[in-house]
Amino acid sequence: MGANNLLFMYLICGLLLFILIKTQRRKLAKPTSSLPPGSMGWPYVGETLQLYSQNPNTFFATRQNRYGDIFKSHILGCPCIMLASPEAVRFVLVSKAHLFKPTYPPSKEKLIGPSALFFHQGGYHAKIRKLVQASLSLNVIRNLVPDIEAIAISALKSWSGGQVTKTFWELKKFTFDVAVLSIFGHLEAHYKEMLKENYNILDKGYNSFPTKLPGTLYHNSVLARRRLSLILGEIIKERKEKKFVENDLLGSLLNFKDAEGQNLSQNEIVDNIIGVLFAAQDTTASLLTWILKYIHDDSKLLEAIKIEQKAIYDSNDGGKHPLTWAQTRNMPVTNRAIMESLRMSSIISFTFREAIENVEYKGYLIPKGWKVLPLFRNIHHNPDFFTEPHNFNPSRFEVGLKPNTFLAFGNGSHACPGNEVAKLQMLILIHHLVNNFRWTVVESSNGVEYVPFPVPEQGLPAKFWIDPPPNHNMGGHHTT
Ligand code: HEM
Ligand SMILES: *[C@@H]1O[C@H](CO)[C@@H](O)[C@H](O)[C@H]1NC(C)=O
Ligand SMILES: *[C@@H]1O[C@H](CO)[C@@H](O)[C@H](O)[C@H]1NC(C)=O
Repeated sequence: MGANNLLFMYLICGLLLFILIKTQRRKLAKPTSSLPPGSMGWPYVGETLQLYSQNPNTFFATRQNRYGDIFKSHILGCPCIMLASPEAVRFVLVSKAHLFKPTYPPSKEKLIGPSALFFHQGGYHAKIRKLVQASLSLNVIRNLVPDIEAIAISALKSWSGGQVTKTFWELKKFTFDVAVLSIFGHLEAHYKEMLKENYNILDKGYNSFPTKLPGTLYHNSVLARRRLSLILGEIIKERKEKKFVENDLLGSLLNFKDAEGQNLSQNEIVDNIIGVLFAAQDTTASLLTWILKYIHDDSKLLEAIKIEQKAIYDSNDGGKHPLTWAQTRNMPVTNRAIMESLRMSSIISFTFREAIENVEYKGYLIPKGWKVLPLFRNIHHNPDFFTEPHNFNPSRFEVGLKPNTFLAFGNGSHACPGNEVAKLQMLILIHHLVNNFRWTVVESSNGVEYVPFPVPEQGLPAKFWIDPPPNHNMGGHHTT
């Protein structure tokens, strides 16, 4: 069969499939109410090309201007409804959460592990979530302060030779180490190294094209994922032999028994550990990168943060005593800078759900099987909720917020259980950064890169120095 015939066959098959899907869809959804406004773009590709050929913020914002807070589109092969109002987000994530299930591409589910909590809803989700939440609760993480401090200081020192540091990529190592700490407590160095090596391979292929071809990034990820299961199996075996009950995440997953005395399976434990690593690392690292950029670009803010942090440092006798939990809970200026960075960068611009049945919202039909996307970023940048939304202005967080207008950590049954440990590590890193280090951004630009979270261009190349320098004769640096 010649290439042309083959191509023709493909076209015919594609067309048949298209017609089939079309008619199926018509059967599934017999709308009484009507679909929201919006353009579905071309058959097959929908508006995917439009989404990927421009800044995604522009894509969503122009449609919101044209159609309002609720509109339909068609991206990545799926018809979807986009929601950009606090009420609509509350409807989907909180009050009618049971009608909308989380949804991820199968290729990604396979890499993380299908039993990870964020792919689930209902009983299994609630069960795992309780354990994850408990192990990341204030009462547990307050004991992590000294260890996070040690990780932060060692990270900052390693950047401080004055070499150009790609900040985001270095911060990923920091947030990985903190995630490992919150999952395993103290983990032996050789296990940590093996986890790091293989997780990095997994991470590299996570956003690449899924294929079974050997040598491709995706396939390498799949192989690394298998090795991670084996390594975690070893760690679990060793932990069981110790018979020592720990309140870290691994401990609570291992010790869990339901009402019938049933424990979790090894795969359920492994998938959820990788899931938490995944949820913790890039999010926190990209947010920290934004904070460093924003406070570098705003010298008044940096000064205010320095004053706040220096007072704490001085009360600890010039950093001779470790930071206390109470001190980390009383850093209002730094905390508002973190909140404003979360709002401005909106690193999780939106999330995905899928309607499990036909749902009506404000007279509009959300058909069964359609994706539903709460657009967090649009809400964070709506002048009705945040005046002059494009200005970086931490003082806006001095007053209370309207419900469901600040969604950096989501809301409802899937809201981020790691938000407090994320904030804690950011506060601790900033404390040491501004007290003991100086830094300058190399080629400050306003470019954004998607990795796939937005980060400043090239991960914010910067130079760091210890301040004051260990040897004062080395001469000063005229930087921030
Ligand atoms: C700045 C850092 C972070 C941001 C902005 C962030 C944001 C979010 C958001 C928006 C969600 C909800 C997604 C949805 O509803 O579809 C979420 C879920 C989650 N996050 Fe975070 N997160 C951060 C850090 C962390 C950390 C450090 C951990 C763990 C140590 C973590 C663990 C999780 C988990 C396990 C879920 C899934 C919860 C569930 O499905 O029940 N996150 N995160
Ligand atoms: C769960 O319990 C069974 C039976 O007691 C045991 O064989 C299995 O190893 C346990 N699984 C885990 C992950 O601890
Ligand atoms: C989450 O939703 C509830 C119910 O609408 C609301 O009270 C709460 O303020 C929301 N949380 C956030 C972070 O907006």
